[in-house]
Amino acid sequence: MDEPDWRRFLTAYHQAHPGITEQLLSLADTSPYAWLAEPLRGVEGAVLDLACGSAPTRDELPDADWVGIDLSAAELAEAARRGRGPLVRAGAEALPAASASAGAVCAAMCLPVVTPLPRVLGEIRRVLRPGGTLAALVPSRSGLSPSGTLGWLRVMAALRAVRQPWPNPRARDGLAALLRTAGFRVRCDERRVFTLAVDSARAAALLVDALYLPGLTPRRAEAAKRSLARWATPGRRLELPLRRVVADLPALPTGRPGQEPV
Ligand SMILES: C[S@@+](CC[C@H](N)C(=O)[O-])C[C@H]1O[C@@H](n2cnc3c(N)ncnc32)[C@H](O)[C@@H]1O
Repeated sequence: MDEPDWRRFLTAYHQAHPGITEQLLSLADTSPYAWLAEPLRGVEGAVLDLACGSAPTRDELPDADWVGIDLSAAELAEAARRGRGPLVRAGAEALPAASASAGAVCAAMCLPVVTPLPRVLGEIRRVLRPGGTLAALVPSRSGLSPSGTLGWLRVMAALRAVRQPWPNPRARDGLAALLRTAGFRVRCDERRVFTLAVDSARAAALLVDALYLPGLTPRRAEAAKRSLARWATPGRRLELPLRRVVADLPALPTGRPGQEPV
């Protein structure tokens, strides 16, 4: 899928399913958004929530000078309906913020899907002040137990899908390396395996809708929901490995010209 087609898919997908990622992660045993927000508590300066969607991190950072940015009008409407703001409609590849104006950028579940990624990373660098922090949460492809692997095989078989064809596959387990190449100093790169309660037909349907599968026809989605509803019995849990990467923009060199950034 080329970039214009991917963007058309994303626009239609979020128009049809605003708040879907937050809804899916609300099935988790503990909040991934609380985990993501931990390193951002108490940072000085504005926190830009990149591709904020329904803005779940807003509630995790109540005292922050927080601004949510997203391209989708429907996602921003969902965030506003939940009383979260301020919100700005803009693309992550052209952020409406002055250079060196933000203390932190928060990127929840978005770096594998925003395009073009090099330009988005360049924008994050531009808006962060020297020493500013990027905290990103992304899906991880590793960390599943044998039963977790079987669970996902069951889900993908119901969908007749083999993988999620996202444009930036390296921005998952390879995110730390990507950020280093883009000039960030990676402070931590951790994986945590959450579990989703897929224990009802409603949760099974939510899972099917939340997986970002461009080739999924409405007929196949309905068949997968029926199939997974039978599997989604009380107590059923599905492992979801996520990765949190925290990286800083090097501070400006102090001292003699030519000295390495500190
Ligand atoms: C998987 S959702 C994550 C939403 C939210 N951060 C969360 O964790 O619930 C990805 C979000 O990226 C937004 N998005 C995709 N491409 C974008 C772009 N180029 N600029 C800004 N937002 C974008 C979508 O509208 C969507 O809200």
